[in-house]
Amino acid sequence: MKGIILAGGTGTRLLPLTKVTNKHCLAVFKKPMIYYPLETLVNAGIKDVLIVTGGNSPGDFLKLLGNGKEFGLKELHYTYQEGSGGIAEALGLAEDFADNGKVAVILGDNIFEDNISQAVKDFEKQKLGAKLFLKKVPDPERFGVAEIKGKKIINIEEKPKKPKSNYAVTGLYMYNGHVFDVIKTLKPSQRGELEITDVNNFYIKQETATYEVIKGFWSDAGTFESLLRASNLVAAKAKLKT
Ligand code: DAU
Repeated sequence: MKGIILAGGTGTRLLPLTKVTNKHCLAVFKKPMIYYPLETLVNAGIKDVLIVTGGNSPGDFLKLLGNGKEFGLKELHYTYQEGSGGIAEALGLAEDFADNGKVAVILGDNIFEDNISQAVKDFEKQKLGAKLFLKKVPDPERFGVAEIKGKKIINIEEKPKKPKSNYAVTGLYMYNGHVFDVIKTLKPSQRGELEITDVNNFYIKQETATYEVIKGFWSDAGTFESLLRASNLVAAKAKLKT
């Protein structure tokens, strides 16, 4: 399975930190943010990776990651999203790279403790659709929130005022090759973006979306508070290991 890291957008929520470099190059404890999603994919055995860059200082990605050798990769692929038209728009730029195959997609500001190798294997066997990853959080209104009935997600609401559960939809998604046709049918949301939640709701309506709950810690790192939280989680984990 190929891997796609979505690291576009403009990172305005982290100004002035993002004035001189790209949000995804900022530090999360001892490493630049983008290392974490890249390691999540590589540690799951994914060898073919595309990074969708964007915003300020996209050249910093090249300086930092080069051809991916440090991560055991033969090469890294890059593309550029102009503006910040949404996560689904950024994913749409990966159509040629995906070449009709299944993809594991991860947001460039999402930090996962879990190793996702088994999930990748499971999705390789899954005949149709998508696989989503949830995490119970104390502040679901900041995320896409899953409404669950029995063993199924029946809907996802993007940043709801009154969340129907405590399960955030994390920024890790697995899709079949049909995802690029789904993206082409999307209309911009109220915030002017093509929403990944609309893509996920398509698969949920089609009843081809499976999900699992992430066991280890998970955090986004796109706001000052969550950036600090992500650093603290990684630091605490590193301390446990020593
Ligand atoms: O962190 C998980 C959450 O990420 C999900 O629960 C939400 O459903 C999903 O919409 C998203 O929420 P945010 O509004 O917090 O996403 P944000 O705009 O911060 O973007 C997260 C990453 O996605 C960002 O680091 C890079 C990528 N991105 C985002 C936009 C808006 C792009 O590549 N292009 C974009 O245009």
